[in-house]
Amino acid sequence: MKIYRTTMGKGRSSDGGESLNSLHEQIKSCSRCPLAAGRNEAVPGEGPDRAEILLVGEAPGRDEDLAGRPFVGRAGSVLDRCLKEAGIHRSEVFITNVVKCRPPRNRRPKKEEVEACRPYLESQMELVRPKVVILMGNAATRAVLDMEGVTSLRGRIYRDLFFVTFHPAAVLRNGNFREEFVTDLSAAKERAQRERAEESR
Ligand code: URA
Repeated sequence: MKIYRTTMGKGRSSDGGESLNSLHEQIKSCSRCPLAAGRNEAVPGEGPDRAEILLVGEAPGRDEDLAGRPFVGRAGSVLDRCLKEAGIHRSEVFITNVVKCRPPRNRRPKKEEVEACRPYLESQMELVRPKVVILMGNAATRAVLDMEGVTSLRGRIYRDLFFVTFHPAAVLRNGNFREEFVTDLSAAKERAQRERAEESR
């Protein structure tokens, strides 16, 4: 059984757990860091309440800030296509970001912004209870595992839960990463399937 640490106290549902909906309502009205002032829409993330695979990107970009949804721009198209190649439907996975509001001019999220947003990501992991979490790019890998260097970190599982791979924007910039990205997505899917089979035994 995977244990996640919850640090958010509000919005508990009747079964004692916090519902994803109420968590996302909190995120939409969040003002825990200065990014809130510049956002059009907060982007909590999307996907089924329970998903076997949870993907984590860096931060919403312009398209995501306007739509209030993750990965809907060019990087999102790459992600969608690569998921499909790996035999994964976007509708079956949960997709979110390290920070839920767009940083100005798409700059990297600052450490304090990541820290302010961290409890939301932790709560999402606890509620969605994925069998596999795919950390896409250095921002997600740093925020969750406190490690850097996607190229050398990919291809292994960390803490029995986390896979590291490229960010879709990196795949967009450098087509050479695409094959490895799809391989990583496929490996994550296989791992989730194996875990499910073991659970049902
Ligand atoms: N890049 C990200 O890291 N996240 C998005 O949602 C879109 C682009």
